Amino acid sequence: MSAIASEISKRRTFAIISHPDAGKTTITEQMLLFGGVVREAGTVKGKKSGNFAKSDWMEIEQKRGISVTSSVLQFDYDGKRINILDTPGHEDFSEDTYRTLMAVDSAVMVVDSAKGIEPQTKKLFEIVKQRGIPVFTFFNKLDRDGRDPLDLLAELEDVLGIDTYPMNWPIGSGQVLQGLYDMHNHQVALYRPDSQGNRYLALDENGNIDANHELANNQIWRDARDEVDLVSDAGNQFDEEAILHGKLSPVFFGSALINFGVETFLKSYLEYAPAPAAKKTIDEQAIEPLNNDFSGFVFKIQANMNPQHRDRIAFVRIVSGEFKRGMDVTLSRTAKKIRLSNVTQFMADSRENVESAVPGDIIGVYDTGTFQIGDTIFSGKAKIQFEDLPTFTPELFMRVSAKNVMKQKSFHKGITQLVQEGTIQLYKSWVSGDYILGAVGALQFEVFKFRMENEYNSEIVLEPMGHKIARWINTEQLDEKMASSRNILVKDRFDQPLFLFENQFAERWFKDKYPSVELEAKL
Ligand code: G4P
Repeated sequence: MSAIASEISKRRTFAIISHPDAGKTTITEQMLLFGGVVREAGTVKGKKSGNFAKSDWMEIEQKRGISVTSSVLQFDYDGKRINILDTPGHEDFSEDTYRTLMAVDSAVMVVDSAKGIEPQTKKLFEIVKQRGIPVFTFFNKLDRDGRDPLDLLAELEDVLGIDTYPMNWPIGSGQVLQGLYDMHNHQVALYRPDSQGNRYLALDENGNIDANHELANNQIWRDARDEVDLVSDAGNQFDEEAILHGKLSPVFFGSALINFGVETFLKSYLEYAPAPAAKKTIDEQAIEPLNNDFSGFVFKIQANMNPQHRDRIAFVRIVSGEFKRGMDVTLSRTAKKIRLSNVTQFMADSRENVESAVPGDIIGVYDTGTFQIGDTIFSGKAKIQFEDLPTFTPELFMRVSAKNVMKQKSFHKGITQLVQEGTIQLYKSWVSGDYILGAVGALQFEVFKFRMENEYNSEIVLEPMGHKIARWINTEQLDEKMASSRNILVKDRFDQPLFLFENQFAERWFKDKYPSVELEAKL
């Protein structure tokens, strides 16, 4: 294997998807501990420790103590180089969160085992499913009384429409947690062994532990043992192909907080998660990671990392070839040549200048307004243009106007640039041409307002319209009279018409009234 092939085979680039409070930060931190990157727990979460080392980029982030846009954590573990792309949650949930999922090769889904599948997990999972990439599930908080594991599996299958394969099984939970029955490694991991050396119990060929061990006479063990038999007999078979296509999710139980089951999870994950894959171009060509020429695409642009310089960083996921500092690339959209000299990589505790990087890695290219979300860059002679990143259906809308009518110029300039950058989506009222902003998360409006004022010197007025259901309609089928106050007719930035429905009732009413009209939701 060539040196670069060996480097690529070590890469595991993934995102953790979860609902807020399921334990994403805690499990990330445990992984960083295994990777030797952080020495103590509690260093990742800025809001608690006041340590903003990894994401003190925007003033707004500091004020709120949250990470506005996804960042990248890179570390080595078990012979692999891991890139975790953070997907912000809570109120900082935004289109960036979705777009980040376009740049990963697999996803880890962390679920609170007392709560099961929650709305944000479901939303993020839909994107992952659409891409057909592998998803590994970690049912967290086993140290607490959770729901019946069989129920959790059934819910995962029902709600998300994916098959599951348990890799381990809890032996009790909460106060009576005894350990994990590790089907995959054919052993039992004890939660409270009498000594470190006795942490693992071997299983005999029938899957039983030594009958003399005190656990063997515990009802909790017997119950877990029955359940293991049940899921082995009635459940899905382990199928690596199905895992790689995102059809079967390997499921793990554990507790991030007490660091139980996390390391085994990480090891199994690294064993089965895929190395970087080829990516399709708009003309259906697959660009393989081992292609000699460098190529990559911009999945996110973050502005104002340094307010003094008003710099922006374009996050590029490398698809093929090797990145070398100072190399010349072509920006596909404009055919312009660009020299990549000012480029950073994201180690967990700092941003460092990077000399080289390979497919699977994320590099941050300093940008002075050249890049747009979804841009392709390549080093070879043959033009490469990757498929467009999808746009995501916004759910929140606000009317926007300039506070000072005399300052229309800076208002328009700001809106145009920020929309191009993917900060927010812009619509226009069909009749009046009024500007309407759409977002998937409320914080996008705040970031937009902040940046309009600080970067474009344009004060704006935002007037909430609330939650809406956006549905696109074919121009041929459109009749302006179909619009009403319950379904506002607007056009997107490509002048395509869509309705903003007040709620599901309004949408249903519309469908009843115009049964032949097709309404389309984007992702
Ligand atoms: P998030 O990033 O997904 O939002 O979740 P985070 O890791 O911040 O965890 C949310 C809360 O759940 C935290 O408690 C955290 O300590 C707790 N938690 C995470 N994993 C486990 C687990 O395995 N078991 C138990 N019992 N709790 C877990 P908090 O009270 O909000 O914060 P803190 O003050 O305890 O840090």
